[in-house]
Order: sequence, then C-alpha cells, then structure tokens
Amino acid sequence: ARITLRQLLDHAAERGYGVPAFNINNMEQGLAIMEAASACDAPVIIQASRGARSYANDIMLARMMDALTEIHPAIPLCIHQDHGNNEATCLSAIRHGFTSVMMDGSLMADAKTPASYDYNVAITERVARMAHWVGASVEGELGVLGSLETGQGEAEDGHGAEGALSHDQLLTDPDQAVDFVTATRVDALAIACGTSHGAYKFTRKPDGDILAMQVIEAIHEKLPNTHLVMHGSSSVPQELQDIINKYGGEMPQTFGVPVEEIERGIRHGVRKVNIDTDCRMAMAGQFRRVATQDPREFDPRKFLKPAMDALRDLCRDRFERFGTAGNA
Ligand code: G3H
Ligand code: 13P
Ligand code: NA
Ligand code: ZN
Repeated sequence: ARITLRQLLDHAAERGYGVPAFNINNMEQGLAIMEAASACDAPVIIQASRGARSYANDIMLARMMDALTEIHPAIPLCIHQDHGNNEATCLSAIRHGFTSVMMDGSLMADAKTPASYDYNVAITERVARMAHWVGASVEGELGVLGSLETGQGEAEDGHGAEGALSHDQLLTDPDQAVDFVTATRVDALAIACGTSHGAYKFTRKPDGDILAMQVIEAIHEKLPNTHLVMHGSSSVPQELQDIINKYGGEMPQTFGVPVEEIERGIRHGVRKVNIDTDCRMAMAGQFRRVATQDPREFDPRKFLKPAMDALRDLCRDRFERFGTAGNA
C-alpha cells in the first residue's frame, strides 16, 4: 500500500527505527528493493531524482510504482521526489503519484549555487503549503552537503559547488534548524553533517572531525519531534570496491559512512537514510564480474539478474541493521 513520508516516519519514530530511502531509475532496481522489503517485512521509501525522472519517463515511473504496489500489496511504500529544485518539480511529482517530495532549497534552482536562508525558507514553506493541501509530505534541507576535509561544498549531482565553503555552511546550525522547521512546517528535515553524495566522501575512515554525528545529536535535542534525514549515507563498502576493482574497475580507495554511525544517528532522531551509491556499486560489480567471467555472454538478463540479487542483499542488510525489518 502507498503511504506518505509523514505516516511512515511517525511510525518509525514511535518504534525507534530508521528507513533507508533507495534511489531507483529502472524496473530491476524497483523489483530488487521490493523483494528485499518483502523478505524481511520492511516498509520502504523509493525515491527518484530529477535525473531518474528524465531517464525513465514520468509515466513509466508512475506505472512502475503502481506495479510494485500491486505485486507487494502488504508492503507500505512511500514514493518520494529526491532533491526537488523548485515548485514545478515537486508539484509534477505529486501529480504523477509521488506521496512525498523533497524541496531542496539549500541550493538555488540550478542545484549548484548555495542559497540564502531566506530563499530556502520561502520556497520550502510555499511547497509545504501546497503539498499539504493535497496530502503529500515534504522534506526540506538546511545546510549544504559537502566535505569538511576539503571545504568543497557540493551540488546535488555530486559535482562541486562554486568555491570553498565554511564549516558554518557545511554543518546545520541547531538553532537555525528550530527556526526553519517552525517557519516551513516540513515533515522531515535533511541536515548537513559532513557527508556528500557519491563514492568519494572521505579519504580515511571518518572520525568526528570529518563526520559530525554530534551535530545530529545537538539538533535532535532541540527538535526531538522532527524526523531527521541523512543524505549521502552510502557506506561505500570495501567488499564492493574490491569486486569492482577485481573485475577491471579502477575505483581509487575511498571511504563512506560506516553503518554503525548511521545506527548512532537513528538513536538520535534520524528516520530517513538516503542511499544510492551503494546500490549502484552492488549492481556495477556484478555487471563487471559477468562481463569478465563470461566474455561470450550478451543476454542482458544474465547481467541484470545477478545485479538484482546483489542489490536485494544490500537492501535487506540495511533494513535489518536500521531496524526497519519487521515493521511492515
Ligand atoms: O542525490 C543524488 C542521487 O544519488 C541521485 O543521483 O541525480 O544522478 O540520479 P542522480
Ligand atoms: P549516496 O551517494 O551516499 O548514496 O547518497 C544518496 C543521496 O543522498 C540521495 O539523495
Ligand atoms: Na531526499
Ligand atoms: Zn541527497
């Protein structure tokens, strides 16, 4: 059944679990995520970026979400717009059946330039008001994702934003977060704590200097009833880097957000955990393995089936470790 982000995260807060939000672009990802959710009775958030919508076509995505709901009627499914950049993106998503939208006003509509606080409040409040009229939920974002190691702030696509940013911009301020949630009436708040999108988050296993989980704890103390969202939450597991590199990949050594740090976040108000890169790596590793081990193979299903299995196993692991399993 289709549910809103608010319904799902209220339940998660009551019971103290977190929900992974997995990005999809195609049927195989949708089937694999739902299979994992169904195998461990987890409610699920499937999200589509603007890029996913233009890749797959809105109509195809909408019918796919219908199909996934029909195939797995017992699994609560929230369909979420990831990183909406303006009112048009958010409202058109709702029209296509999304039950939730992110209005990311931390960046200007070009999705590259950091926005002023006043711009962010105004556009997020406007989207929240309209979405709530029609029963959809809204996630806002305060603070710019980016690296505390380099000061490189980032655009939503993982490419660098203009110029170096200060720690003030890269870490959400708890008092400003209170003001933002009050002014915008968002259902969930994405915060910045040193994570960034993509595989290259940290040059070493992160500690408190470069992954500021303490900021989440400070925000949760001031906003105990607000559902917090962590973006850039892929763990970039060593085993997935190794599989990719064993079969001809050339990913330089990198570090993501350790799952135990996410578990710590979940103990302090984090309810939605955005994961895309790990899913991409799980699938890409299998594409490379099949291409290398069976160079005569050319049936796409022979590549896609093991990729789906690897994605399913990854999703199931996150459902179990975040406490989502058993809550459908
Ligand atoms: O926020 C970034 C997500 O990983 C989606 O990425 O814009 O390439 O679809 P994308
Ligand atoms: P990752 O790149 O760490 O998977 O983050 C995804 C994300 O935040 C999507 O909004
Ligand atoms: Na999001
Ligand atoms: Zn994100």
